[in-house]
Amino acid sequence: MGKLYGLIGCPVEHSMSPAIHNDAFQENNLDGHYHAFHVEPDRLEEAVQALKTLDIKGFNVTIPHKISIIPYLDQLDETAKIAGAVNTVVNENGQLIGHNTDGNGYVQSLIEVIKKPLSENKVLIIGAGGAARGIYLTLTHSGSQHVDVCNRTISKAEELIKECPFLNTSKALSLEEAKENIQEYDIIIQTTAVGLHPNVDQKPISLVNAKNSAVVSDIIYNPIQTALLKEAKSLGLTVHTGVGMFVHQAALAFELWTGKTPSIEKMSAIVHNKLG
Ligand code: ATR
Repeated sequence: MGKLYGLIGCPVEHSMSPAIHNDAFQENNLDGHYHAFHVEPDRLEEAVQALKTLDIKGFNVTIPHKISIIPYLDQLDETAKIAGAVNTVVNENGQLIGHNTDGNGYVQSLIEVIKKPLSENKVLIIGAGGAARGIYLTLTHSGSQHVDVCNRTISKAEELIKECPFLNTSKALSLEEAKENIQEYDIIIQTTAVGLHPNVDQKPISLVNAKNSAVVSDIIYNPIQTALLKEAKSLGLTVHTGVGMFVHQAALAFELWTGKTPSIEKMSAIVHNKLG
């Protein structure tokens, strides 16, 4: 009998996780099946209990359940504790253990495109929500020495830096201030919803004064080329798309569940193929 894996979120209908995980099970000759389950917020506790009863071996957690699932899990590992959010659950002998592979998945994919060690790059994060927080924390744990945060609402950027006092060099900036100082940064990371469908022509900041060697990263992967990344490309800057984060977080989850390392190239090809 095959082992059950899955995803819970709301909505999940357009998720690409089933395609990449089911392919990875096949590639690794494993009898696993991954299914996306639509779970409304007020049914989360029941859903987690049901998955436990059905002896699901592992599942991913997506919006809007990444934080609210925590009380229904038996334990959190260090990555989930640091992020204060869970995107991957492992069933260890009936105990549900929460992990977070988003931050490490993101940093692993970023390291593939940067030209010098992470510690030597000055980083600007655009946005101060949950995604920005996870990336800020993982970067600082991974050796980043200088990470500034800019946000439409500057007080939220200030709060993020204050809550996570790993670097005392970090500055909170308005979007306007960040635009004026954009030439200082080696890596610019876009974490807001600006550029998502249907507002695909919008970008939170202009890159015209960014340095030629800058890497511009957007965590949005649908569309793959956001308006910000299109501008970066037209200026000759290095572009890092959200597909990298998506497939690396998935690969880390797959490793936690099965002990096998799936092919990142194959996973990326499936996503590019589906998104065009
Ligand atoms: P997530 O968990 O995906 O990061 P979130 O916590 O809701 O989502 O955070 C959304 C981020 O996108 C915030 O930084 C938000 O800025 P504010 O704090 O000022 O709200 C940012 N954001 C959303 N819409 C925006 C817009 N139209 N222009 C600029 N920033 C925007």
